Amino acid sequence: MKALILVGGFGTRLRPLTLSMPKPLVDFGNKPMILHQIEALKDAGVTEVVLAINHQQPEVMLSFVKEYEKKLEIKITFSQETEPLGTAGPLALARDKLVDESGKPFFVLNSDVICEYPLLEMIQFHQTHAAEASIMVTKVDDPSKYGVVVMEKEAASRVESFVEKPKHFVGDKINAGIYLLNPSVLDRIELRRTSIEKEIFPKIASEKKLYAMVLPGFWMDIGQPKDYITGQRMYLDSLRKKAPKELAAGDHIIGNVLADETAVVGEHCLIGPDVVIGPGCVIESGVRLFSCTVMRGARVKTSACVSDSIVGWGSSVGRWARLANVTVLGKDVHVADAEVYSSGDVIIQGRYMI
Ligand code: GDD
Ligand code: MG
Repeated sequence: MKALILVGGFGTRLRPLTLSMPKPLVDFGNKPMILHQIEALKDAGVTEVVLAINHQQPEVMLSFVKEYEKKLEIKITFSQETEPLGTAGPLALARDKLVDESGKPFFVLNSDVICEYPLLEMIQFHQTHAAEASIMVTKVDDPSKYGVVVMEKEAASRVESFVEKPKHFVGDKINAGIYLLNPSVLDRIELRRTSIEKEIFPKIASEKKLYAMVLPGFWMDIGQPKDYITGQRMYLDSLRKKAPKELAAGDHIIGNVLADETAVVGEHCLIGPDVVIGPGCVIESGVRLFSCTVMRGARVKTSACVSDSIVGWGSSVGRWARLANVTVLGKDVHVADAEVYSSGDVIIQGRYMI
């Protein structure tokens, strides 16, 4: 079976992290975002994953691909656009890679969604309903920033209509960005910039061939810092249930904390809940961390406090500094040793002193 992951967005909402790293390679739970998806695809029987890239230089992704092709024993190839083709055009471009004589359906995933990926259940669902296209849906409080899916009353799993980013309330079930499509869907897509949500799904729904499976478990689009932090809490909750041994334990730990084995944590720290500490990080003594991410190679110095924030790769938080309320440090940002207090949507690059 094959799969395509849409990885060509600009990731502007996850700046400054995406200024140094393509969004799909930004770490989440101590692994690149798309690795969560590639692992799940492999577990569901996928043997080849096509990464639909656009403006990115393939070299940036190449070392990632080389490493994980070997580790996971899965084929990973690129399909590169010369201009952005949106969320449907890349499928037309990769047509030859996705279709083979087996005529099997293939998966399509947005690269920035995180969940438990019940892909085997989805294959079952797709077959049971003899759907042309199946999509996963989930319920959210604010559906306006997503694609909203309205189900038929008489056939509960069949989609009546699909409305991308509706201005008015039409329902609270939204497109979770995970699809299983028959090869015939490709006949509906022209090779030009086009949106699967605005042009293709509404058409398939009007022909009563689009079905929606309600996603069990948690779901989050982690393409914005606030949602990334919320998604991390959900992901760690799910790890607690599925693989509790991966989480840290100890007197200085509260709730769910994932810390790489190469990270060093000093004395008298209080860490958690909902914290991820990356490889090679140094957390000096007396530090308080909760609801935050400290990425590979970062350092949090003595008596600093980081909450609801993201500390990018190789950055440092100075002594006594406080980062809170969705502060995001990009790569190699250094917050001075002082009583710095950063609160709110503060996006920082370079050296930061107050
Ligand atoms: N190759 C390629 N080319 N990929 C693209 C392009 C492009 O021109 N534009 C966007 N993408 C990729 C992004 O990298 C992302 O993985 C995916 O397509 C969706 O784009 P986003 O920019 O993240 O869209 P969104 O979050 O506003 O909305 C989408 O996701 C929601 C769920 O998170 C839609 O699919 C909504 O319907 C859905 O509810
Ligand atoms: Mg998104």
